[in-house]
Amino acid sequence: MINDIHRAAYATIEIRAAAGDYPVFVGPGLLSRLPVVVSTYAPSERLAVISDDQVGPIHGAAAAEALVEVGHDVTFLTFPEGEGSKTRKSWSMLTDEMLNAGLGRDCTVVAVGGGVTTDLAGFVAATYLRGVPVVQVPTSTLAMIDASVGGKTGIDVRAGKNLVGAFHAPCAVIADTALLTTLDARNRAEGLVEAVKHGAILSEAHFDMIAHSAEALIGADPDTNAACVAASVRLKADVVARDEFEGGLRQVLNFGHTIGHAIEAAAEYEIGHGRAVAFGMIAEARIGERLGVTEVGTTDRLMAALMSLTDGTSLDVDPSEALRFLKADKKVRAGRARYVLLRRIGEVAHDDGWAHDVDDATARVAVTEVLSGW
Ligand SMILES: NC(=O)c1ccc[n+]([C@@H]2O[C@H](COP(=O)([O-])OP(=O)(O)OC[C@H]3O[C@@H](n4cnc5c(N)ncnc54)[C@H](O)[C@@H]3O)[C@@H](O)[C@H]2O)c1
Ligand SMILES: [Zn+2]
Repeated sequence: MINDIHRAAYATIEIRAAAGDYPVFVGPGLLSRLPVVVSTYAPSERLAVISDDQVGPIHGAAAAEALVEVGHDVTFLTFPEGEGSKTRKSWSMLTDEMLNAGLGRDCTVVAVGGGVTTDLAGFVAATYLRGVPVVQVPTSTLAMIDASVGGKTGIDVRAGKNLVGAFHAPCAVIADTALLTTLDARNRAEGLVEAVKHGAILSEAHFDMIAHSAEALIGADPDTNAACVAASVRLKADVVARDEFEGGLRQVLNFGHTIGHAIEAAAEYEIGHGRAVAFGMIAEARIGERLGVTEVGTTDRLMAALMSLTDGTSLDVDPSEALRFLKADKKVRAGRARYVLLRRIGEVAHDDGWAHDVDDATARVAVTEVLSGW
């Protein structure tokens, strides 16, 4: 039976994790194989299927029904969609509901949804009765290419995003790219920004593939998306396998995120993460070129690849606010270097370490320039 999913999958990527290796199955139509994946990788009679209230009716309920049909006892739980639900409150609601349903240590969580569901349901699984298995079914581009690999789970708290959480690797991941047809185009485009990042730091071929296929990718073509998700998962998995708990190499995944996070915070999270990271990557590539670290022309290639993924090339965000967040961030890190710079497309500059120090004046110019339009 399990050979059948290997045959049906566009790609199967084995992820190495301390808690045990797990497969990521990528391809259109694979959600129908959920029951066999659960029985092979997380055999439990009792399951908690968790979705947000937008994905729940479209995909979560069907997944739950398919599991009931093969004899599982399923508790189907939903929470209100959106980042605002990645809270202690949702965590306590979900864990209370599972306790009320009498789910024991032998249960498995099946998370069906975008990155918010991956993180929240993953954190529920990490902590419920000190930890139960989780099978991840990411349904957004971002969740497929980014959140489903690496085992990070967590919630947001007043002091910041993702500050409370745990590493909790799933038993298996099903990335069914046919599910992307119901995701809105803006979320599809924003998710692809992280795929461009994977290409920019690790693989020129992946970078070029996305740049050339942007229309099909944003248009939710399931096969083109399967190729993109599989390549991104492979690239991220390779980095995570070499540095699972974020001591060194894994920092390269932060390319574009130092300035991206500052822009996101300055915009009071009114703009999407992908959009902020796109601006962050352009600013950080310019910094690299200016410092003579990054090959000249790299920023131009990034801009060309990102053009169709960001809604406009300027942002109405106050540069001095963004710079204030950059300064605060530097303080938190006790002045430690935090800029990942490219050598060229497909390669990160690695001299003394994976991150570089950048003086405030250079950062100020780059942030001001990128916000005013590229
Ligand atoms: N754990 C990690 O390594 C990691 C990595 C990247 C991002 N994240 C987290 O992911 C979150 C963002 O993920 P996201 O952008 O997927 O957010 P999300 O889960 O809120 O999904 C975005 C929106 O799309 C909807 N949606 C998702 N899939 C759908 C589908 N197939 N059809 C219709 N609607 C669908 C959701 O209901 C939501 O309204 C953030 O909280 C971020 O911190 C985690
Ligand atoms: Zn990101």
